[in-house]
Amino acid sequence: MEVYRFPTAQAHFRCRFSLPSQIVRLRFVCSADLRTNGNKQTQSQNNRMFILGMGYVGEFVAKHLISQGQGWAVSGTCTSIVKKEKLGLDVHLFYANQPELEVINIMNQHTHLLVSIPPFKDIGDPMLQHAELLRRELNSERLQWLCYLSTTSVYGDCDGAWVDENYQPKPPTELAKLRLAAEEGWLSLGQDLGLAAHVFRLGGIYGPGRSAIDTIIKAESLSDVQRARSSKKFTSRIHVADICNALNECIRKPSPGRIYNIVDDDPSPRTEVFSFAHKLINEKWPTLSKKRATGEPATEKGNLRGEKRVSNARMKEELGVRLIHPSYRSGLQSICDQIHDHPPIFKFM
Ligand SMILES: NC(=O)c1ccc[n+]([C@@H]2O[C@H](COP(=O)([O-])OP(=O)(O)OC[C@H]3O[C@@H](n4cnc5c(N)ncnc54)[C@H](OP(=O)(O)O)[C@@H]3O)[C@@H](O)[C@H]2O)c1
Repeated sequence: MEVYRFPTAQAHFRCRFSLPSQIVRLRFVCSADLRTNGNKQTQSQNNRMFILGMGYVGEFVAKHLISQGQGWAVSGTCTSIVKKEKLGLDVHLFYANQPELEVINIMNQHTHLLVSIPPFKDIGDPMLQHAELLRRELNSERLQWLCYLSTTSVYGDCDGAWVDENYQPKPPTELAKLRLAAEEGWLSLGQDLGLAAHVFRLGGIYGPGRSAIDTIIKAESLSDVQRARSSKKFTSRIHVADICNALNECIRKPSPGRIYNIVDDDPSPRTEVFSFAHKLINEKWPTLSKKRATGEPATEKGNLRGEKRVSNARMKEELGVRLIHPSYRSGLQSICDQIHDHPPIFKFM
């Protein structure tokens, strides 16, 4: 299937051909969010985002879109009533393993779909277990754009090399293999539905409430996975505000089937990040840092096996993303600046 765009003075029209069956399905989408205003593209009152999995990123994206004041309506899903009430957003209880038609019908009333549910061992992507149901039921003329949130862990062992999206992924674990399959599944579903479907391969996500600053303040001990990462020389990461930033650009400039690495410019070791976080905390709350010294990873020397430096060149060149936080330094500084309690009382997100 191929998707063509015909830009006109007023609008872009998207035209869908299902070539294999020789059945040509034409769908003209006069897509309001693609309308141009001089060189600037504007978003309309009709934009509706549905977020499958209103987790850390999902909640941040929802609140970001709503706060933009560009008429976005945002809905999504979570799996518990407690969370639903806490979010205070338009959220539906939803278990992807047993998707309810009612929620799929609600998805049909949206223009944009963000998929933020991870795959699970032995299952894979819980939604894609029901791909045929989705192909049948996600039939709205409104739905036009999709983004699947994936991870840079699909690349596997790259011996410390820089990798871009053309690098052939070598997923090292069962979960990474399932993730790669999920990427392919969502791109394929998007194509079959005539949507502009994208994959974002995210580096380690950090932001308010989830960062080295928070780990130190909460005096948390590191998980086994975090400890394993501590010895790494390069860890790609991305501030959640820059995920929103990249999503915004991708919505403005859809590119069906495209995969983007979403990482910052500075793949630094965790030890360096924690040292910097300690320094910021020490400057802002001198007594606290001494009391809460845990959370700092062991300073083992790593080797380059399984390591990679992930390039964000495509994100910058094609989407035109200008990072708000090109390095963990400005990201952590902004997180520290946003904590106003003295001494800080940690608030769980
Ligand atoms: N954390 C990282 O550093 C990192 C890095 C790269 C990529 N990623 C991936 O990027 C995506 C977003 O990350 P995140 O940190 O925002 O994830 P998150 O906070 O764990 O959110 C995941 C969301 O998926 C929902 N969910 C999980 N299992 C489900 C199921 N069976 N049915 C329906 N919903 C289900 C959760 O529901 P509840 O809200 O009810 O819990 C939650 O809303 C995830 O796929 C994550 O794996 C994460």
